[in-house]
Amino acid sequence: MTQDIELALPQGSLKLQRLPLRRKQTLQAWDSADQLALTQLQDIKPDSRILLVNDHFGALGTGLSALHKQVQLTVWSDSYLARQALHHNCQLNQLPAVKFVEAVATPQGPFDLVVMRAPKSHSLLQDQIKRLVPQLAADASLLLPIMVKHLDNSLYDLLTKLLGPLSASRAVKKARVLSAQPTNVSGRSPAPVIKSWQYKDFTLSHYSGVYGRKRLDEGSQFLLENFPKGDFKRVIDLGCGNGILSLQAAKTWPHAQILGVDESYMAVASAKLNAEQNALAAACEFQIGNCLAALATKSADLILCNPPFHQQRVVGDQLAMAMFADASRVLDTQGELWVVGNRHLGYHAKLKRWFKHIEQQGKHPKFVVFKCRK
Ligand SMILES: C[S@@+](CC[C@H](N)C(=O)[O-])C[C@H]1O[C@@H](n2cnc3c(N)ncnc32)[C@H](O)[C@@H]1O
Repeated sequence: MTQDIELALPQGSLKLQRLPLRRKQTLQAWDSADQLALTQLQDIKPDSRILLVNDHFGALGTGLSALHKQVQLTVWSDSYLARQALHHNCQLNQLPAVKFVEAVATPQGPFDLVVMRAPKSHSLLQDQIKRLVPQLAADASLLLPIMVKHLDNSLYDLLTKLLGPLSASRAVKKARVLSAQPTNVSGRSPAPVIKSWQYKDFTLSHYSGVYGRKRLDEGSQFLLENFPKGDFKRVIDLGCGNGILSLQAAKTWPHAQILGVDESYMAVASAKLNAEQNALAAACEFQIGNCLAALATKSADLILCNPPFHQQRVVGDQLAMAMFADASRVLDTQGELWVVGNRHLGYHAKLKRWFKHIEQQGKHPKFVVFKCRK
């Protein structure tokens, strides 16, 4: 099955593609919560200042720009892939670029309307709402398009605590739009929350929503315990999160260049902070990016990777596969990819598409580390 790229709305239709683009894409760039919100948002006052938060694949941003040419739209997100998707889909529909604010910065209001997709991470949701409420106009409303299966009691209670009473639209194709009229909109936006903890000699700090924000992930710990041995000069930490693998690499190979890449702005900011506060900033560089798209072929001799197993809320290996493909292109002929993953994900069979030599390292009941060469 290939994906449908036409989203039908009462006001017309939009072309939307999901990123990363794949030859046999089976996933759509929107869900029925996006579709319901766009259907409901037919009458918006011209000149309204709209803040769109956490749009997944640009469906809402493209839809709002196409349907309401007079509004002032700002998109706020932690995801570089979502930013690229918005750009791509606006181009596909011959629409101008939309203003984008990275999650670490706070968008400057006042905004008359906020349309927000709730992120998976409650810490990020809380951080974003606390920072955006002071940026609202006095009579602003906030709409939350959501799939019913994602609206559990803990999310509902958190939203009510942060926004006051919520009302809900009727459900259409298993989606609803929640709405709130936050009242306490005065004051200044707080700075983003940063949480820190200690792992061995490292102090690790995290902006909200960053992977492993409460404790070291068991998989990362297993890779740290089975770290590559050898003399490496150009090391990449693919999907660097808080940068823990980069910090360990900088300590292990003091003369190597270490580059961490992540698609989350909050992750890249956390990794930079961690390199500074652990006195390793001179050896480490961190970049925002989609896998290794921006890196030259055969430009690394070691790649460390603890791949994500979901994209937004969709569980799957699509991102892990994109990472393995990029790693194989960017590694030098004798280079090594070290991957850690949950045993049940079956990475061994998948890695064989790109790597001839795959050796398992260490023993763990739940995780596996693979050393891969071409
Ligand atoms: C399982 S976490 C690993 C984090 C860290 N390396 C560790 O071991 O604790 C996977 C990371 O991949 C990042 N990621 C997801 N999709 C990505 C993409 N397309 N390009 C780069 N990084 C991505 C996520 O933001 C997340 O930080």
